[in-house]
Amino acid sequence: MVIFGAGDLLHRKLMPSLFHLMGDGLLPDDFTVITVAREAMDDDTFRTQVGDAIRTFLPNGATANKNDIATFTKQLYYCSGELNDVATYDTLRARLAETDARQPGGSGRLFYLAIPPSLYAGTINLLAESGIAPRVMDPKQRPWVRVVIEKPFGQSLASAVALNACVRRAFSEHQVYRIDHYLGKETVQNLLVFRFANSIFEPICNRQQVHSVQITAAESVGVEHRGKYYEEAGVVRDMFQNHLLQLLTLVAMEPPVTFSADAVRDEKVKVLRAIRPITPTVMHDYAVRGQYGPGVIDGKPVPGYRQEPNVAPDSATPTYCAIRFMIDNWRWQDVPFYLRSGKRMPRRVSEIAIQFRKPPHLMFPIPENQIIESNTLAIRVQPKEGISLRFEVKVPGVDVNMASVDMDFSYAEAFGELDHEAYETLLLDCMLGEATLFTRSDEVEAAWAVVDPIIDFWANKRPDHFPNYGAGTWGPTVADEFIAREGTKWREP
Ligand code: BG6
Repeated sequence: MVIFGAGDLLHRKLMPSLFHLMGDGLLPDDFTVITVAREAMDDDTFRTQVGDAIRTFLPNGATANKNDIATFTKQLYYCSGELNDVATYDTLRARLAETDARQPGGSGRLFYLAIPPSLYAGTINLLAESGIAPRVMDPKQRPWVRVVIEKPFGQSLASAVALNACVRRAFSEHQVYRIDHYLGKETVQNLLVFRFANSIFEPICNRQQVHSVQITAAESVGVEHRGKYYEEAGVVRDMFQNHLLQLLTLVAMEPPVTFSADAVRDEKVKVLRAIRPITPTVMHDYAVRGQYGPGVIDGKPVPGYRQEPNVAPDSATPTYCAIRFMIDNWRWQDVPFYLRSGKRMPRRVSEIAIQFRKPPHLMFPIPENQIIESNTLAIRVQPKEGISLRFEVKVPGVDVNMASVDMDFSYAEAFGELDHEAYETLLLDCMLGEATLFTRSDEVEAAWAVVDPIIDFWANKRPDHFPNYGAGTWGPTVADEFIAREGTKWREP
């Protein structure tokens, strides 16, 4: 495996995940990683750095023993150089040749771009021109050559189209793995099983039974040291174009014919293409944005977005957004999908809540102002991963009183704590040539086509009310007003 870039992603996610995969016996014995990055460093220094990172960032408080770390890190090599310099690729070629001589017979090579998006095109071009990562026509050819590209894949539809063209000039589509780590989450993968391996839920997931769907990805973290990236990105590019729209497609798609990468992705693309375009004249009815100001989280004061490092003091970048998407097809016509995501909310919680229609007529004598809750199927993506179904029951007693109760499935109770990271699943899938959990070129472009009009509209219209929510709150008042106009309210996750 060749990883370009030795930043946060490598230290926090990739190396701990590879280490964990090794511990589970899922990597070949001769598995080798060469990291290519700017900073001058020798192999040993790099190995020590990665060892420290593994100890710090292993998920769920897992511990690593010294010998295992040493076994893992001795297979790591470091190659320093500028990614836009042809000489770097000569050095890499030499190091790959050394690896082949030391451990002949490798079954494939995975090239991972863990670098800033501005370097993708240049690196892909040089990688291809150098002959190090050749185009492979036949997916069954061995040794295989695959390339993993991190998000964000482009900054807009136009740039994603250009990047796809660059990728296509260098590689066949079957060699390309566009990563969205949400798809590696156990609960997200379970959406397919939950929907299509059970017969009781599928018949009720449609416009006849469903009133609305709320998809929430709330984070308590702020932008903190990522100001430089985030100022350019904002919440719509950072969370909606990829993670949230992926969740939406998995909830809304038709049953694929087979569980194969293309069959699944074909259905997801159909959903994205069926999303009603949001035009400037109706934007107000479909989307609202926000930016956090200073506040308190877990009893500690935290700065506002404009006070974070590398953020403009009058920044117009949204850190919260709520959007209503309508899917114009037979299954979902008139069912709103409300998606929201924000930084610096009170808690980290991602969930999908399918809210069913209320009974058409209620024969029970209930007080006039009592509101009957909708039956809700809530899929908790994280934390406390699980699924619950909320319904009404009679409260025991002589009167007819109702209360909402939950039927609850918890991963931890049923199977023990989830002990592997999304990146582990995804890294393994790339090595196995399993592309279902990766986004295809047309899918990425269809997702950009959905969010582009919103990003453009806001880019041309400076908000005069930022910051409009305090850190530690559930978002701006405009978001509550927005959903109240729809006759409903946000679910408190
Ligand atoms: C990343 C975004 O893709 O996803 C981050 O760039 C965000 O801003 C993160 O914090 C959320 O992922 P997770 O797995 O922590 O929910």
